[in-house]
Amino acid sequence: STIFVLNGPNLNALGKREPGIYGGQTLADIEAMCVEHGKTLGLEVVCRQSNHEGDLVDWFHEAGNVAQGIAINAGAYTHTSIALHDAAKAIGIPVVEVHLSNVHAREEFRHKSMLAPAAKGVICGFGADSYILALNALKTLTKHTK
Ligand code: DQA
Repeated sequence: STIFVLNGPNLNALGKREPGIYGGQTLADIEAMCVEHGKTLGLEVVCRQSNHEGDLVDWFHEAGNVAQGIAINAGAYTHTSIALHDAAKAIGIPVVEVHLSNVHAREEFRHKSMLAPAAKGVICGFGADSYILALNALKTLTKHTK
């Protein structure tokens, strides 16, 4: 199976962005880890990042045509984007919402996710391991597809 690992706004700055909250690994580190972990699961992992909401919407639709699942850290668009909610509903593949930090232990405005009701599930609070856990979940979900 092919899995898209998508990252939204400001995640390009991982490593130097609030490392006390998001950890010291760069996005390149995390993407490499996802590709490697995907190999151990027999998944082909395709990684993309954009600061632009529409890119993420376009990639949802592309994934709907060529992939079997999506792991997405939508960053702040998690809390605002009806477009991503609608895109998740418009495609026939499972979406797993990912966060490095435990958004529920942070500011009130991070407690609400627009995406979560359209996602298969949410993983948050485990740092870079959140992505690994999302890939494990997607592996199970795609067991019966190709
Ligand atoms: C985040 C949490 C969001 O609230 C925030 O806007 C981010 C990162 C996380 O991975 O913990 O950009 O998605």
